[in-house]
Amino acid sequence: MDPIDSDLKWSIFFVVALAGMSCQVEALPVDAWGIFFVAGGLGGGFVSAGVVDRAQDLADMQQYNEVKGFFRVEANIVRLQNDDGLEHNGLPCDGPVGKCDPRISAFVDTERPNHDFGGDSVPYRHYATLLTAEDTNSPVVNRTVTRDVCGHSVRKINIRVRAEDVDTLRNDDKIDNFSCFIYGLDRPALDEAHAEWSPELACDGLDRKNTKIWFKYRWFFIDAKTCRPSSNDRGLLDGLFS
Ligand SMILES: *[C@@H]1O[C@H](CO)[C@@H](O)[C@H](O)[C@H]1NC(C)=O
Ligand SMILES: *[C@@H]1O[C@H](CO)[C@@H](O)[C@H](O)[C@H]1NC(C)=O
Repeated sequence: MDPIDSDLKWSIFFVVALAGMSCQVEALPVDAWGIFFVAGGLGGGFVSAGVVDRAQDLADMQQYNEVKGFFRVEANIVRLQNDDGLEHNGLPCDGPVGKCDPRISAFVDTERPNHDFGGDSVPYRHYATLLTAEDTNSPVVNRTVTRDVCGHSVRKINIRVRAEDVDTLRNDDKIDNFSCFIYGLDRPALDEAHAEWSPELACDGLDRKNTKIWFKYRWFFIDAKTCRPSSNDRGLLDGLFS
């Protein structure tokens, strides 16, 4: 079963559980689901952000084409832009005059693009570290992360990037999380030879919009025989504590 189908089933399960409805579920048009999700997310303060993620999954189904088959995604993380040297809370990484010591890591999330960072989507231990730099607020990264999709379908891919400050006096060492999206509206190329890199695109920090990751990507269909299957590889307890 492809991930979108299974997410949809979970979404329906959640709504039924939340709203306490046990019947007439099938009768609701797809549009109505979105409203239920949002209402559930806002109304029940106890409800985790996961409900909103699932609403977004459903919205994506109407908005973005499905891309199905065997294809490879390559994302070049070009650089971090954080000229003022700030952490996610707006405080400087290293006092008024120092600079950040950023570590940049990334993961191509083809399975749970709308879920929260951390165990809810991809445990941080699976991110590839692309760069660790000292005394640099806006380092050039220029490293490429890649992932194959082998016979599944996607509508949206989240190139997840994290920037952390690894040498700080405070405990809090986060610079920001970045979701760099690729949308199924833009079809993969027929094969590698036809694949062109996108222009450099900016993804805003989730906490601070002025902090940005610049990236470019290309994606293309590949021979099924060369496809390297992989998963987000979440463990049993991932998502509960992070
Ligand atoms: C990025 O790296 C490639 C080779 O790995 C190099 O050819 C290119 O000039 C680099 N680009 C920048 C902007 O540093
Ligand atoms: C990134 O996302 C995770 C999960 O939502 C959150 O715990 C963390 O505070 C976020 N921000 C940064 C800067 O890491």
